[in-house]
Amino acid sequence: MGDGVLQELGRLEALARAELTAITTAEELQALRVRFLGRKGLLTTILRQMGTVPAAEKPLVGRRANDVKAMLEASLDAHRETLAHASIAAALTDRLDMTLPGRRPATDGHEHPIRQMTRRVLAICTDLGFSIFDGPEVESEQHNFEALNMPADHPARDMQDTLYVEAGACQRLLRTHTSPVQIRVMLAQPPPVRIVAPGAVFRRDADVTHSPMFHQVEGLYVDHGVTFQHLKGTLLQVLERLFGEGISVRFRPSFFPFTEPSAEIDLGYHRDAHGMRLARHGAEPVTDWLEILGCGMVDPAVFEAVGYDATAVSGFAFGLGIERLAMLEWGIDDIRRFYENDLRFLTQL
Ligand code: DAH
Repeated sequence: MGDGVLQELGRLEALARAELTAITTAEELQALRVRFLGRKGLLTTILRQMGTVPAAEKPLVGRRANDVKAMLEASLDAHRETLAHASIAAALTDRLDMTLPGRRPATDGHEHPIRQMTRRVLAICTDLGFSIFDGPEVESEQHNFEALNMPADHPARDMQDTLYVEAGACQRLLRTHTSPVQIRVMLAQPPPVRIVAPGAVFRRDADVTHSPMFHQVEGLYVDHGVTFQHLKGTLLQVLERLFGEGISVRFRPSFFPFTEPSAEIDLGYHRDAHGMRLARHGAEPVTDWLEILGCGMVDPAVFEAVGYDATAVSGFAFGLGIERLAMLEWGIDDIRRFYENDLRFLTQL
């Protein structure tokens, strides 16, 4: 009787081996495992006949049954590995198509929108007779605040919180505005002065219209008999040359420690499906205003700090926000886009 069971085990083994070679997927492999080794599988069916095997033959038949089971399990596991490797290898040997065009290095770049806008503003200002000056981004507290009539305890400093890179007697900081260039120029030369100064500035500010680093163009005009009319005429001229006629310009009274009187200029815009757009007279209504610059008549205290005679000369100054101008020019409503280096964004501008 034991012989019968042994024969069946042998047949089972041969059958399993034969079927295994034909299997190509993990699903088929699993089905085979269930059919041979499952609880109601072929091996179990054979082992049910163990009761009929004479006691003396049981150890032999039992060992053989265990061997067959172990062998089958090992073969199934090995085959599973083989299938897994084969599928990875197939994925990796995807044919290389030598006729596909290569990736070209990008040679069609252009100036960043912030640079473009800075350049446009400078071109207009130099056309009006201003010359261009540079100042350092790491500035002394004296130039950035003190000489601009902002002593240490002045509340206006709170809005211009920044990073100090050197403490102690000569405090140095990342400049919070381009206005310190005014001081540098006036210390270096007597009036008349007619300069613009572009550059990066740094503040503790971050939302859709504020960035901790942004760009300004500073302007300063000092001479005999400069009035607020000159300020207004010049700035309107700059803005109209920049954006064309028919824009909505709002002068709003403001306060800066280094100018008196002071104003801010807002430009009117409206929103359409694509974002913010400059509103033009007769075309679109103004739905909101965006502040783009601060300005005013130079405060006598500033002239005093640089050794100019405040009774002999007067002047106006302004500080333009380049990002804000760019936002209006291209209809961008999140200032952070400018710094993300996303080519999908930059290539549109
Ligand atoms: N420095 C000011 C700021 O960053 C802007 C400003 C206001 C500049 C008035 C000026 C000025 O030259 O006259 O907030």
